[in-house]
Amino acid sequence: MALVSELDLPFIEIFGDAFTADPHQAFAEARRHHWLARSEVGYHALTYASTQALLRDKRFRFGAELGLPPEGQAREALLARSRRNLLNLAGADHTRLRRLVSKAFTPRAVERFRPHVRRVIDGLLDPVCQRGHCEFVHDVTEPYPIMVICEVLGTPTEDWKRFSVWVEILFSRLGLSLDDESTALVLRTQTELDAYLADLVERRRAQAERGDPGDDLLGALVAVEEDGDRLATADLVTLMDNILSAGTDTTRNQLATAVALFARHPEQFERLRQDRSLVEGAVEEVLRFAPVVAGTLRVATEEVEMDGVVFPEGTVVTPTMAAANRDPDVYADPDRFDITRPSPEPHQAFGGGPHFCLGASLARLELFEAFDAVASRLPGLRADGEVRWKSPVGIGGPEVLPIAFTPGH
Ligand code: HEM
Repeated sequence: MALVSELDLPFIEIFGDAFTADPHQAFAEARRHHWLARSEVGYHALTYASTQALLRDKRFRFGAELGLPPEGQAREALLARSRRNLLNLAGADHTRLRRLVSKAFTPRAVERFRPHVRRVIDGLLDPVCQRGHCEFVHDVTEPYPIMVICEVLGTPTEDWKRFSVWVEILFSRLGLSLDDESTALVLRTQTELDAYLADLVERRRAQAERGDPGDDLLGALVAVEEDGDRLATADLVTLMDNILSAGTDTTRNQLATAVALFARHPEQFERLRQDRSLVEGAVEEVLRFAPVVAGTLRVATEEVEMDGVVFPEGTVVTPTMAAANRDPDVYADPDRFDITRPSPEPHQAFGGGPHFCLGASLARLELFEAFDAVASRLPGLRADGEVRWKSPVGIGGPEVLPIAFTPGH
């Protein structure tokens, strides 16, 4: 048994350029020495088994406070607002809210959004297809999930641009460094979004009382009742905020990552074009090979012993899904991108344990329809300039993705 701080662990510089350029190489190199690595923010679990164990371990909680200003009013205000987020809830409080909302996100429940999702992606590709080239992030992936989520939540679709701006600002929370000015902007934005959502909920409640809750997620949430348990307006606002923030930047970056991978592996893209039964496997392989949430944050709520290592209370440990998904003990030839790969174990791109991604079925549906549409409509897909990547800390993915293809499909 050894105290984690006394171990001789590999160090990963997660804010360095080399890591941004190729995080997988850094993880693989470190994993050759130990299942744990150290970095500027704490420790990182790098194997499939240790990542899964951490995500399932209730002695660890999500680290909402990490990345916030170290002290002061702004920190308190941000913390107070995020306290009721699903990720920050634990135990019975989490189970209650999660059970009430998860019915709306089962594979069967999200299936009815498929035609709308397809119309959205086709509508975004229509103008692009004629040109033979585009900047895929700006032209397609930025608006895509917002337009889907507006429909899912039951918010007016024409409001997607307002949502897009709000969500972008709120996501700066994840950048792991907020100065006073950006904190103030995040707080103002959160207040605006909350007021908008509360108004939407109240109007929908009134509509439901007249006997027409509406055939969308908000309608379902307003009507949700289990053993006499109903969702208060504040719960509903938090949930919608959670869904908007968690379901937007993730999906758009995962789609852009996929298109960058297809441009880099034209033989895989051609196979997909020739045989659409491969779309489902392609979605899973992209999520395994390059998950946009490379790792998440956990903090030990008590002293924890794991695999011979002692983590004192308060230790920050990152379950590193991107590393777990390429663990050579689980995946043969893990650095090979292969859309026909038979998967022995499910990847961990959506996390695991009690906080497993609530929107996984919707994300899979959105990626499925987008891959199918891109395969039909962008033949000869290739890079058309340098792909610029964001830092993989927080939510990764291409920042700029210029592509070219044969026009007119
Ligand atoms: C490709 C797209 C997506 C990826 C890679 C992704 C990834 C993740 C991961 C890794 C977690 C677990 C975080 C943790 O345990 O610390 C998570 C949680 C969550 N995700 Fe997703 N997600 C995606 C899309 C979505 C969508 C579309 C929605 C909603 C419509 C959504 C809603 C949520 C929510 C609400 C949670 C928190 C669940 C809880 O705490 O119980 N996600 N997601």
